Amino acid sequence: MPQSPSLPGTTDRRLAALLALLTENATIVISGARIAREVGMSRSTVWRWVQELRKLGVQVKGERRTGYFLEKVPDVLTPDLLRKRLKGNLFGKRVFHFFKTDSTNRVCMELGYAGEPEGTVVMAEAQTAGRGRSGRSWHSERGTGLYFTVLLRPRLAPAQAPLLTMLAGVSAHMAIAAHTGLVPELKWPNDLLLNGKKLGGILTEMHAEPNQVRFVIVGIGINVNQEKFPLELSSIATSIRKESGRESYRLELLVRLLAQFESDYNRFLREGPAFVIDRFESVSSFARGRRVRVDTGVETFTGTTSGLSPEGLLLVARENGSVVTVIAGDVAEVR
Ligand code: BTN
Repeated sequence: MPQSPSLPGTTDRRLAALLALLTENATIVISGARIAREVGMSRSTVWRWVQELRKLGVQVKGERRTGYFLEKVPDVLTPDLLRKRLKGNLFGKRVFHFFKTDSTNRVCMELGYAGEPEGTVVMAEAQTAGRGRSGRSWHSERGTGLYFTVLLRPRLAPAQAPLLTMLAGVSAHMAIAAHTGLVPELKWPNDLLLNGKKLGGILTEMHAEPNQVRFVIVGIGINVNQEKFPLELSSIATSIRKESGRESYRLELLVRLLAQFESDYNRFLREGPAFVIDRFESVSSFARGRRVRVDTGVETFTGTTSGLSPEGLLLVARENGSVVTVIAGDVAEVR
């Protein structure tokens, strides 16, 4: 099995392999000797790592004499399982997993500079400094949401990079709908909403020459199993669990989302921006006919959304009849 690449702070590859082995054999007792053989460590190290997993909240039962088993499949984003499920795919090759990091975007950006290949995935169970758009932070409670970033090296002009944010939004929208049966709203440029509350967001960052992208990182945050949010977010954020009343297996949603994103990304590279614009317009009920207030950071105005420009910018018709092309800004519905 390919191993987890190592980087300071990433989950030790033996810990990841142990978790994958226990998960694949959940509820079956596996002897310490077999684990030691398959994971490539001594029996006393197996015991030590089992203690580590327990500290991380994974319910491993059993003891040295009898062997170990998982009472319930843990909802940990096991990197070995992700690689296995996405075998042969773009996003199944290089997977970095953290139980905790500051921001998967920050890590992925560094990996981009260090020359990591296209398709590298960085995921975390918790982030201590998750980044949102416009300098905001992203609430990243441990083990409940999806917090991950992918590295891409497309041959695009820098001005086309924002299309990747929109594309990721479309892919996430489709994956969430297929996985949960809930149909989120997609709001330009990067918001996923359910019942008007924020369910997910995308933060794209890049390193580029004046005419050519060197690499782009697309960071995606989705609220999956949160039961509640801090007071300041409770009226504006929601999760799949809060809306559906059901817990989701995050790894499954992640696999769907990455497979969808790979296929959408390839079509974008083959067919060009029109593919993204058409998909976005067909999925986003916000793209046309919505009364919105736009805050560009320079000015605030109200108007009605009138579709997207060929470059993927939002067109808003103002009351005086002029049509404004919004390059960047916060867009909120006016009811
Ligand atoms: C937004 O403001 O809507 C964008 C939020 C993006 C959050 C994700 S979580 C994973 C990745 N790492 C980060 O630090 N941010 C993005």
